Parts: sequence; C-alpha cells; structure tokens
Amino acid sequence: MGGYRLKKMVYDHSCNKQKNKTMSEKKAQKEHDAFSGENVKNTKYGILASSIDIESLPDHKKPNQVRDEIPTLNRCGYMKSKLEFFGETFIDLAKVSNKPALEVGCAYGWLTHQVLETDSEIVASDISREHLEITLKDAPHNKLDNLYISKGSFPEEVSFDNESFDVVMASRIIHFLKGEDVKKGLDKIHSWLTPNGALICTNCSIYHSSVKEKMSKIFEERIQNKEEWAGLTQQDSFDSVHDDYSHSFLNCFYKEQLEKLLPEHGFKIEEIRYFDYPGDPWPDEGKGHIGFVARKVAKN
Ligand SMILES: C[S@@+](CC[C@H](N)C(=O)[O-])C[C@H]1O[C@@H](n2cnc3c(N)ncnc32)[C@H](O)[C@@H]1O
Repeated sequence: MGGYRLKKMVYDHSCNKQKNKTMSEKKAQKEHDAFSGENVKNTKYGILASSIDIESLPDHKKPNQVRDEIPTLNRCGYMKSKLEFFGETFIDLAKVSNKPALEVGCAYGWLTHQVLETDSEIVASDISREHLEITLKDAPHNKLDNLYISKGSFPEEVSFDNESFDVVMASRIIHFLKGEDVKKGLDKIHSWLTPNGALICTNCSIYHSSVKEKMSKIFEERIQNKEEWAGLTQQDSFDSVHDDYSHSFLNCFYKEQLEKLLPEHGFKIEEIRYFDYPGDPWPDEGKGHIGFVARKVAKN
C-alpha cells in the first residue's frame, strides 16, 4: 500500500507523467480504490459491502470444482459447498441474533451467502483479498447492506470490539494455525462473543484421509506421550492426492484434546463430534473432521 501511495504522489506532481499513465495502471488504481477508496464505509465490523464499487473489482478466475470441493487460490485446501450440522447450526444462530454473525476463513463465501439469504447480517473475514473479492462479487446483490468485509490474518490481524457477536463460525481454518496461534485465536473469539455466545468450529481430525496413512502411528505415539499438538503434520506427510492445494502444514485435532483445550479458554462444549461432509469423496468412516459448538462462559 505504501508503494501505491508514493506512486500516486509522483503522478499528482507531474502532469506529463499522469498523462502517460497506462490503462493497466488506471485499472489497478480503480480496483484498489474499490476496496479502500474515499467512498468506502469502514465500520466497527469491517467495510460495508454496499459501499464498495463491486463492478470495478478484478475478475478472478475461481478454480473449477475438484470432486465435491472448490480449491482455494492460496493453497489453503478447498472450500466445501455442502451443508451439514455445523453449517446449519451457524445459519440458525445467525438468524436469531440481533448482531451480525462472523465467519472467519470464509474463502469464496459460500456459507456467508447462505446467511445473507436469510436476511441476517454477517462479517466475512479471510486472509485472502482475492477470496473476499469473489465473496463480494458472488453475494446476493440485494443483501449487500447486510455484509461486512474484514481482511486479515487471523488471529493477529483481525480485531473487533468486545462482545461484538453472538455467533462465530471458523470452518476448516483453525487447522492452519500452530499451537500458540490456536490459543490466541480462541482468546480473541472469546472476547468478541457476548456471554453465552457460540463458537462453531470444524477442522480436519487426526483421522482425515490426507494424513491418516503416513501419520496415524506417529499421532498415536505423540498422544501416548501427551504431546500438546499431537496432530501437527508437515506437507511432506500428506497423501499425494491432496498435494495441489495443500498448505505447508496441517494441525489436525482430536476429541480429547479439544475437550481439554476449550474449557481452558473459557468455552463450555455443547456439542462435539467427528463427522464426514456429505458427499465426501474419501469418507473417513465418519471421523475425517471434528466439529464443535461451544458457548462462551467466564474464564477461570
Ligand atoms: C479450507 S478453506 C475453508 C473455507 C470454508 N470456510 C470451508 O469450510 O469450506 C480455508 C480458508 O481460510 C483462509 N485462511 C487460512 N489461514 C487464515 C488465517 N490465518 N487468517 C484468515 N484466513 C485464513 C484461507 O484463505 C481459506 O479461504
């Protein structure tokens, strides 16, 4: 952003150079302004989508669906597009809240769009500007007053006021965080939730097909040795079928670990279970993912 400002100042002080500005530079400036220009309305929840000039956002090519999933543009796996218990619970809780809901790691916004369709308000957050731009372009255009955009790397770059949300969804993003960031992330979400507010979260479990073959014995040993992050796996241990879109590591979870971790960060578990997504091409005997709904309680 600093580079862009400097370039703009140079142009502003030199009429000749400004005339020479190429079409692609003009387009880049328009695109930039669309996300952060003067008309854009920044609120405590992020940028109000209806204040963004959506027509001028760049046209990213969303990758084609692979099996039942759409690959991300930043090697963060895939976006799911099938509703299951945890997604449905998020939509239901968003509907009865008087505040916007928050989706962290929304990718192309498939779930965010479902929430918008129910006339609820939602904040869509992701590390990838491209993902958020697609989320905006694909959003139902008559619901943009209900959508806020917050770009940043969770947890360190994303911030909201205390008690901003009654419900937060983190679907298949926390497994891209290492231990201390998982803890920081839980603490941040705890502060953003109203008392008794709900965190809904799904992640790859230690039984997920991408890691099962090469890692299951190692996971078992680490669990026996009471290692705190027993499911942490580097990319070279993933099964090769997932190579194209895989992240550099995956922090897989298991039930007993979350049952210990969540209360330590002020959450009371309401529901926790292993599951496979509907239509999963490699059903993992119902155990490929682990999801939970946890309520904010006072911290000890
Ligand atoms: C596997 S996709 C999940 C998409 C969707 N929530 C789902 O469940 O299908 C993970 C998403 O999290 C985003 N992401 C990964 N690390 C992140 C971080 N540290 N902060 C914010 N977003 C992140 C990626 O850009 C990607 O869009």
